Amino acid sequence: MPLPFPILTAEEAAELIQNGHNIGFSGFTAAGAAKAVPAALAKKARREHEAGRPFKVGVLTGASTGKSLDGALAEAEAISFRTPYQGNPTLRKQINAGNVKFFDMHLSMVPQSARYGALGKINWAVVEACDLTAGGGVVLTTSVGASNTYMRLADKVIIELNANHPATLLGMHDIFEPQDPPMRNELPIFSVSDRAGSPICVIDPKKIAGVVLTNLEDESRGFDEATPVTDKIGQNVADFLAAEMRSGRIPPRFLPLQSGVGNIANAVLAALGTSKDIPAFEMYTEVLQDSVVPLIENGRCKFASTCALTLSPEMMRKVTSNIDFFRKHIILRPQEISNNPEIVRRLGIVSMNTAIEVDISGNVNSTHVMGKTMMNGIGGSGDFTRNAYLSIFSCPSTAKGGMISAIVPVASHMDHSEHSVNIIVTEQGVADLRGKDPYERAQAIINNCAHPDYREQLQAYLKLVEPGSHEPMSLSAGYAMHRQFLRHGDMRNINWDEYR
Ligand code: COA
Repeated sequence: MPLPFPILTAEEAAELIQNGHNIGFSGFTAAGAAKAVPAALAKKARREHEAGRPFKVGVLTGASTGKSLDGALAEAEAISFRTPYQGNPTLRKQINAGNVKFFDMHLSMVPQSARYGALGKINWAVVEACDLTAGGGVVLTTSVGASNTYMRLADKVIIELNANHPATLLGMHDIFEPQDPPMRNELPIFSVSDRAGSPICVIDPKKIAGVVLTNLEDESRGFDEATPVTDKIGQNVADFLAAEMRSGRIPPRFLPLQSGVGNIANAVLAALGTSKDIPAFEMYTEVLQDSVVPLIENGRCKFASTCALTLSPEMMRKVTSNIDFFRKHIILRPQEISNNPEIVRRLGIVSMNTAIEVDISGNVNSTHVMGKTMMNGIGGSGDFTRNAYLSIFSCPSTAKGGMISAIVPVASHMDHSEHSVNIIVTEQGVADLRGKDPYERAQAIINNCAHPDYREQLQAYLKLVEPGSHEPMSLSAGYAMHRQFLRHGDMRNINWDEYR
């Protein structure tokens, strides 16, 4: 039976959207992101700008997206407001230049904030689906993100019906939206594979303004090749977790793992997958990257609950060609559930995220280079870190060819405080911060995690801390290494006399 909705071209759909509108797009990473309508909207914005008329929209998503969404709209200078996370270089520049307002927020909070109206009115939801029913049943594609909430809240909905994603994805999703406080009951997820909701989103069909037929691959890219540094970080995390299990602090059946985004996270998971000392594990996470697919196939990862399948096109084809197998091993959940603090605490998750810099007290900066320029955003790292049974941050001990130390006296921006961060891992080693006072923590981080080029310098900093300070904080020298880099392009060779 033909669908009772207008079939539109992407250009016709873009014509419906007006300057100043806020749009809730599907997409949690490039997985499942709307593609055709935002690309057409970018073209419309360019035409409007050429005609001397303003055209910008507010862009709300699950997390980062692909080049056809953030990329195209940023290049067309069509974004006024962006939340909650991004990873596009052009958009990053516009945010840092102050040309786009960016609200960096914990991903689990996005749907609730949208429901309460804190993110403005949602005029449109533009959502990618692999199947659609006449009654408004929507089968999402490779991510859920906040799409279920955006479709419910939006005045009107445009569906990108993407034939590139098979309708057999039906059954992989578990759509569940909690009640708002103070009427919220417990979220009924007691093990990683529990289901609490429906495999489809159901919306009022009268809200569907049109359907755009597409056939487009997700724009997720693969990862950089592993390096000796990323391999060593992965090995250090695996060895640490194996030792925790031997000591009885992690039970023999292991604990569910959360793993962050990017090259380091991909390498850490690959190392855990091949470690003979780590038993087969489950994942309760927000993003599944390429390295997990072979681990599910070979039984090293028994089950994965996630918000997105952020897979390269080759890896995605592997999944869709064996969808009956993968459907039994993967659940896709809304970000409000995949990242939910209540569930993270209940399941006893081991969280593994990546830092930009870590200070010797154990505070972590995940978002701002030199405390100033936004990289991507906090993403889900705070949702997991604060509530994890064990929170781990890893990063290479240096960046930019050794000119920058990732271990600094005082973090130039703070996303995760020393109270939430348990373990720091670099290619140099592991610092276990649990049960240590601030100076013991500082010694563990400097001796085990800092690059040897920076250890003496960090010890010299400690000598400047005035007696009677509970924390190793010198207000005059705390940012000496950052200042040295800004002046000389290298954090090394500080003249500490300047700070005495
Ligand atoms: N100073 C300056 N630049 C730094 C730096 C530092 N201390 N540490 C890292 N960088 C730069 C790297 O040089 C690299 O730059 P390039 O793109 O120009 O090469 C870039 O940051 C990315 O670093 P990389 O080492 O490749 O790591 P990554 O791809 O794993 O990304 C984060 C690291 C922190 C940027 C990324 O994990 C992130 O955005 N995290 C926050 C959100 C999050 O944790 N989400 C997951 C929650 S589930």
